[in-house]
Amino acid sequence: MSTYILAIESSCDDTSAAVLKGTFILSNEIANQLVHKSFGGVVPELASRAHQQNIIPVVDIALHKAKITKKQLSAIAFTRGPGLMGSLLVGTSFAKSFAMGLNIPIIEVDHLKAHILSHFIDDNTNKAHPKFPFLCLTVSGGHTQIVKVDSPAKMEIIGTTIDDAAGEAFDKAAKIMGLPYPGGPEIDNLAKMGNREAFAFPEPKIQGLNYSFSGLKTSFLYFLRDNLKIDEQFIEKNKADLSASIQYTIIKVLLSKLKRASRETGINEIAIAGGVSANSGLRNEITLLAQKMRWNVYIPKLQYSTDNAAMIAIAGYFKFLEKDFASQRLTPYSKSTGF
Ligand code: KG4
Ligand code: ZN
Repeated sequence: MSTYILAIESSCDDTSAAVLKGTFILSNEIANQLVHKSFGGVVPELASRAHQQNIIPVVDIALHKAKITKKQLSAIAFTRGPGLMGSLLVGTSFAKSFAMGLNIPIIEVDHLKAHILSHFIDDNTNKAHPKFPFLCLTVSGGHTQIVKVDSPAKMEIIGTTIDDAAGEAFDKAAKIMGLPYPGGPEIDNLAKMGNREAFAFPEPKIQGLNYSFSGLKTSFLYFLRDNLKIDEQFIEKNKADLSASIQYTIIKVLLSKLKRASRETGINEIAIAGGVSANSGLRNEITLLAQKMRWNVYIPKLQYSTDNAAMIAIAGYFKFLEKDFASQRLTPYSKSTGF
């Protein structure tokens, strides 16, 4: 009998539902919340309300596109955390009550592990999956980690940021330049037209495999402040070069630690995941580096880079195989609890 997993992802500002048949994707619906754009960032209370409005229609469309009925579902997976508590509560409560009504199990999923496991979603393209053990650079809006992945259930964080995440560095740099939220894709687009060597920003010197991005943000801020004193059109005139230069600095920092992690662990199966893995500069640079280092590199499709429920479904599927079900009494967590 086929296994059908319905998954819900509601950790931040996107409401998503997906259906997987085994490891194969049948649907992956996302309702984006445009309400936050004018605030320059996600407003938690507005996010929770929008999830409440969106969740039933999104699930309905996901089931419809998957061409299955709710009675065929084997289990419901949902993001337990980390994320915004109000947002997580909507997805968690929905998953619990829907599963209870259908008399099927629920599966809790960690959002960061799900980003990594998105590499195992199958579709019609026959994309190769990473082989265990592999290293994954998980770069999102709230996290930056190098993870050693031994199996879907066994992962170890071997490097992490001690302050800001890479996505935050993109978003904050964009905000300083007056670009809309989220800033990562804006910088990515502008960078394509700019010279990445135009400006140099100091790379943080952090020991081991850890990252730090807060100093970079501050030096970018001061650099702009000083230049705006001389020319108030400085940002306007140099937007593309500034974007290309800050993006290149972030990428160099990310890849230098990844290189070190590969050297120290002897692992050359390398994956990237999370919203920042959608960045075209990072995708290009890691592909070039992989040729040089003889890595097998795995880059997720764009639709599985940023937040989506398909990744929650695949992570849920692996737990389903282990009969690793959750209790109806469980509550979400907003902060990462480690792996
Ligand atoms: O994984 P994600 O969708 O949500 C979290 O779990 O945080 O990541 C969101 C982050 C944001 O900081 C956003 O600016 C960044 O991913 N991002 C990008 C790009 N697309 C999304 N950063 C750089 N370049 C992109 N193309
Ligand atoms: Zn994410």
